[in-house]
Amino acid sequence: MKRRSWIQASFLLCTTVLTSCSRDQGQGDEILIGEYGSLTGTTATFGISTMNGIEMALDEVNQSGGLLGKTVRVIVEDDQGRPEEAQTVVTKLITRDRVVALLGEVASSRTLAAAPVAQQMGIPMVSPSSTNPAVTEVGDFIFRVCFIDPFQGLVMAKFAAQSLQLTDVAVLRDIKNDYSVGLADVFVENFRTLGGTIVADEGYSEGDTDFSAQLTSIRARRPQAIFVPGYYTEVGLIARQAKSLGIEVPLLGGDGWDSPSLVEIGGAALEGSYFSNHYSVDDPSPAIQKFVGDYRDRYGATPDALAGLGYDAAQILFDAIRRAGSADPTAIRDALAQTKDFAGVTGVTTLDENRNAVKPAVVLQVNDGKLVYVETINP
Ligand code: PHE
Repeated sequence: MKRRSWIQASFLLCTTVLTSCSRDQGQGDEILIGEYGSLTGTTATFGISTMNGIEMALDEVNQSGGLLGKTVRVIVEDDQGRPEEAQTVVTKLITRDRVVALLGEVASSRTLAAAPVAQQMGIPMVSPSSTNPAVTEVGDFIFRVCFIDPFQGLVMAKFAAQSLQLTDVAVLRDIKNDYSVGLADVFVENFRTLGGTIVADEGYSEGDTDFSAQLTSIRARRPQAIFVPGYYTEVGLIARQAKSLGIEVPLLGGDGWDSPSLVEIGGAALEGSYFSNHYSVDDPSPAIQKFVGDYRDRYGATPDALAGLGYDAAQILFDAIRRAGSADPTAIRDALAQTKDFAGVTGVTTLDENRNAVKPAVVLQVNDGKLVYVETINP
């Protein structure tokens, strides 16, 4: 028994060593990168927009000769928007496809499920858009290229209290979603500090379709706005049901609203609502306008923030591989940690000692079915 487990242990050790020895040398003339995201399910536009942005960055790098004399290939896996599936596909990308780095996920709960695998196997992971603080706390192989929720929640609390001059706000949060719970907590804390009152704090779960009980009790508390830090499918349904219950106040939210489907689902019920986001397509900066134009030509759609963040995350990873001068995962990790003043479409990225980016946020308003720029808030 003892002997057998010793043999098993040394076999494991050998395979681990072999994997790490051959990972960067055994890929021939290609550099393999893994991408995982929700290409299906209630957050499908998150994965699809991110994939489009990554694909644009990939074509650009390969058209200019690739990296380290090799072609870059991205292997994409659909996690169907499920945390367990995210963990499964990331394990597969690392052990079977032997990728040297990972891009993903969008949703914090899914990144949190998969990141421990990457950390343990020593493969760097760059999340384009997971904003929950715990994501990069998983370890030194986990990075993100976006701002975090303590900032985003403060932005929306200030916007509610100061720009809109609101005093009474209700909260409706997704209680099974790390992002939603974390962002709701930050909003509540800051809104109270700014003198506001949270008149109701209700919960739902992703996949719910009937919100009438929560909305009825919120209505009774007469809020001036409802903060709904969820994802676009539920937010759209909540907006419609709030309207049909006679609730006329605006909804407020965070980046999870960002989707071409938001207004399709919520329709006119979302008019006048506000949410924070990572960039605005109305920004006149030449870099953003070029990206928006190229993306429209290619996909026939306006790039949402996820497309921009996917593009930037891929560019930042490619830049790190170039600077590392090697496709060794640890060398890539070390180079990623040194990312400084990288100018992308979602702003300038410098990764701090906690592997987070510090970037401005924008507030957008739903106006005539479009997302209209309201203001930029600097960190
Ligand atoms: N920030 C969200 C999360 O952490 C994901 C998201 C980012 C969704 C940007 C839409 C746009 O879960």
